[in-house]
Amino acid sequence: MQQQEHDLVVIGAGPGGYVAAIRAAQLGLNTACVELEPALGGTCLRIGCIPSKALLEASAKYLEAREKLGAFGIDCPGVKLNLPAMMQRKTQAVMMLTKGIEALFKKNKVTRYLGRGRLQEPGKVVVEQANGALELKARHIIFATGSQASSLPGVTLDGDRIGTSTEALSYPEVPQHLVVIGAGYIGLELGSVWRRLGAKVTVVEYLDRILFGMDNEVASEAKKIFEKQGLNFRLSAKVTGARVTDGQCVVECEGAEPIQCDRVLMAVGRKPNTAQLGLENLGITPDKRGCIPVNSHFATSAAGIYAIGDAIPGPMLAHKAEEEGVACVEHIVTGQGHVNYDAIPGVAYTDPEIGSVGKTEEQLRDAGVDFKKGLFPFRANGRARTVGHLDGFAKVLADAKTDRVLGVHIIGAHAGDLINEAAVAISFGASSEDLARACHAHPTLGEALKEAAMAVSGRAIHF
Ligand code: NAI
Repeated sequence: MQQQEHDLVVIGAGPGGYVAAIRAAQLGLNTACVELEPALGGTCLRIGCIPSKALLEASAKYLEAREKLGAFGIDCPGVKLNLPAMMQRKTQAVMMLTKGIEALFKKNKVTRYLGRGRLQEPGKVVVEQANGALELKARHIIFATGSQASSLPGVTLDGDRIGTSTEALSYPEVPQHLVVIGAGYIGLELGSVWRRLGAKVTVVEYLDRILFGMDNEVASEAKKIFEKQGLNFRLSAKVTGARVTDGQCVVECEGAEPIQCDRVLMAVGRKPNTAQLGLENLGITPDKRGCIPVNSHFATSAAGIYAIGDAIPGPMLAHKAEEEGVACVEHIVTGQGHVNYDAIPGVAYTDPEIGSVGKTEEQLRDAGVDFKKGLFPFRANGRARTVGHLDGFAKVLADAKTDRVLGVHIIGAHAGDLINEAAVAISFGASSEDLARACHAHPTLGEALKEAAMAVSGRAIHF
């Protein structure tokens, strides 16, 4: 078998893996990255964050041209959907970005291997390639193998009518009736895309609320807004099966009438890709959810073997994986490296967007933390009025005694960008007064965050 030697081998080229590989190369390690897909970038770039954002943007523009631009004095008669062109634009965005990673690998001298990687013994990875196997020796090995969509018992994914987000990013036509199972990030983002393009969309959710884990007040506001946009919700409904019969999809729910539709999107969470990696060869046992247990430096129980991203416990977010990739290799090389899990934002790219960082009100109450809350609605923000996005609010939660910012939750236009300021504030250990006293440009949507911080001590000016 052909053999190569590197300082570090990263298995998986998603946001966790490719970022870890580049950072390691910057730090002087002879680095290789093994990826089984021809295109680099992982789920996020190929079949996740990037294509979904391209479709969210395109479908929002379509809806705007059809229904919203009239209010701005722009008449757009005869607006027509060209779905193939929309899909082509999405594919182009994915291609440019995945090619960009290839270029970054070349620039940083990261060696790329195409094939499926698996641990053989300590310090040895075997790469199964189309023309045979290859053996890689390395002092350090990082698993960044990501995750895949979960399914439910009774549901057979057929890769077409009953599918996951992968299929929902490429439907060849607008479904008449799409049933989305699961009211999480994926269900709501992709449900929104197809609703805007004209589908009837029913979202079936097991819990009695949407966006589990997000601040309750924000999730309730979101539900009201999404309902106005035409999303139908069936909450407290447990899906027990889905199948295709006589050309129709049927979704079965416990104690309720089955729902007929023409496509089903399963969005009930994701599970880590940790099977068939040879972990057992080193005595590494994944936990009950299939995650690889690691210490605070991402080291597994086997010397020289690390894991990051969706393959380990924690939120399955591309930017969390990136931070872990950087911290992991920096710790390997310099002995320092850290991720602040209190300052990892989460964003749902719905309309309006929802951005969240730190603790929710519920988490603070459950932990018995005494906190103050400041809230500012976008309808009182000058810029929001001029851009025509009045929905939502910014909310700041601060420690009642120290005033330290503990959580920020924003539902409103560009919340996904606005939340980064809050993440910086939390990273720096800012107080709500720090946020409130920082001058914010006028007129900007960010002023809503400043005013929410001012509202913590009852001194918002515009509301
Ligand atoms: P999720 O975990 O966010 O939501 C799944 C939902 O399905 C939950 O509300 C759950 O109660 C519901 N469910 C489970 N079993 C059910 C049943 N039998 N019947 C009806 N409902 C049921 O999962 P999602 O949306 O698939 O996302 C997966 C991961 O991908 C998440 O960890 C998310 O953070 C990440 N992601 C992040 C995005 C972003 O940052 N914008 C976008 C897309 C995904």
